[in-house]
Amino acid sequence: MTFTGFYKKTRKERIEILKNLNLISDEHSHELLENITLDVDVAGNMTENHIATFALPFGIVPQILVNNKEYSLPMVTEEPSVVAAASNASKIIAKSGGFETKILDRKMIGQIALYDVENFEQATSKIEENNLYLLQIANEAHPSIVKRGGGACDISWKILEDDEVKFLVVYLTVDVKEAMGANILNNMLEAIKPYLENLTNSYALMAILSNYATKSLVTASCKIKIQHIDKDIEKAKEIAKKIELASKFAKLDPYRAATHNKGIFNGIDALVIASGNDWRAVEAACHTYATRNGTYEGLSTWIFNKNENILSGEITLPMPIASVGGSIGLNNSVKISHEILGNPDAKTLASLITALGLAQNFAALKALVSVGIQQGHMKLHAKSLALLAGAKAEEVEIIAEKLQESKHMNLETAKLLIKENKEKIK
Ligand code: HMG
Repeated sequence: MTFTGFYKKTRKERIEILKNLNLISDEHSHELLENITLDVDVAGNMTENHIATFALPFGIVPQILVNNKEYSLPMVTEEPSVVAAASNASKIIAKSGGFETKILDRKMIGQIALYDVENFEQATSKIEENNLYLLQIANEAHPSIVKRGGGACDISWKILEDDEVKFLVVYLTVDVKEAMGANILNNMLEAIKPYLENLTNSYALMAILSNYATKSLVTASCKIKIQHIDKDIEKAKEIAKKIELASKFAKLDPYRAATHNKGIFNGIDALVIASGNDWRAVEAACHTYATRNGTYEGLSTWIFNKNENILSGEITLPMPIASVGGSIGLNNSVKISHEILGNPDAKTLASLITALGLAQNFAALKALVSVGIQQGHMKLHAKSLALLAGAKAEEVEIIAEKLQESKHMNLETAKLLIKENKEKIK
């Protein structure tokens, strides 16, 4: 299937294309056309002190190739050029065979911090002796996940201390299947907490899921033939070499790493939000993972193989993602997102999100080391500026075009252009 020029179509035409490709049902296509989103009464039951619903733009990366399968990705973002950049990168990478992903494991970890432990040696041997019993209590606290083939599968411990305090921290690992797992873990942890206190003769400070989802790691990689980066091979080599340097720079300098990773999260957050998942959990997990070598680093790695003229990209991220639960079944737009994605299971969705993060990173780095970010970004930012300056819907295109030709693309110029345009019409 081809989506060339998808972005040049009208909104109605884009929805029609998605419908004709069976990516959305007639019902969902109608809801998109009429912009029917989260029901206000449903929203009122999802959060507290509710006053209304809050809208954000809902867009599509029309075509991304992941594990030899084509997907269209829904993205919710307010930032101009993010969807364009992801589409551009996905298209380039698809020409070289797309992304491959690997999921090493899909489990979540929770922890109970014990303090005032009288005898650490006795306490830890009691935990080991009662390992199976503790797992049984955990599973009895949430039997539905056991019925689905998951459940608590491991208990381990660690002693953590400083000059003032010494904790015995107990970690529970749970196979959460299609869920994100917060409620499952918290139920299980709270169930084993009193037993642990008794066994270890100590007090539990807290029992809670850890968002550092190191047992839900996903790796996405791609191998880009450089002729797809630029037809001018010398120029393409230069860009590929500089992208490798940019990834090294982001490993060395936390100031750069923060921005490098922000670019990755432009894509990740947009799909995580569209899929109704907890983006705070994903952000917390990935930013913690970025510090695993002792300093905050860029999350992606790019290597240019000069002999083969291949630019290889790779990213590994903890991806605590669900395909069920939370707001997923409640929000209409989220249901549409899942339909567009082909109703993926949690592992597939985690793979798509990780691949999109790498695509987004490639687009940003390619622009940064060649023409600079402003050219592409400001071209698309011009429309937001025109709107911000007060342009009417019918004026936006013309003011945005004039803004791009102007010396200073800013709010002041946009206001001036709107005034000039009005005078011209009079
Ligand atoms: P281009 O090469 O001028 O695009 O790039 P093109 O006109 O040749 O079109 C190529 C493809 O791009 C199109 O294929 C579309 O898929 C897509 P086609 O449909 O023609 O077959 N495309 C678009 N999709 C939707 N709407 C559009 C659009 N235009 C092209 N309007 C582009 C133009 C903006 C894509 C490019 O310059 C780019 O990728 N720039 C990077 C922009 C970016 O990364 N923005 C993110 C915000 S900046 C930021 O916050 C992150 C940062 O700080 C991170 C970091 O520092 O690492 C930068």
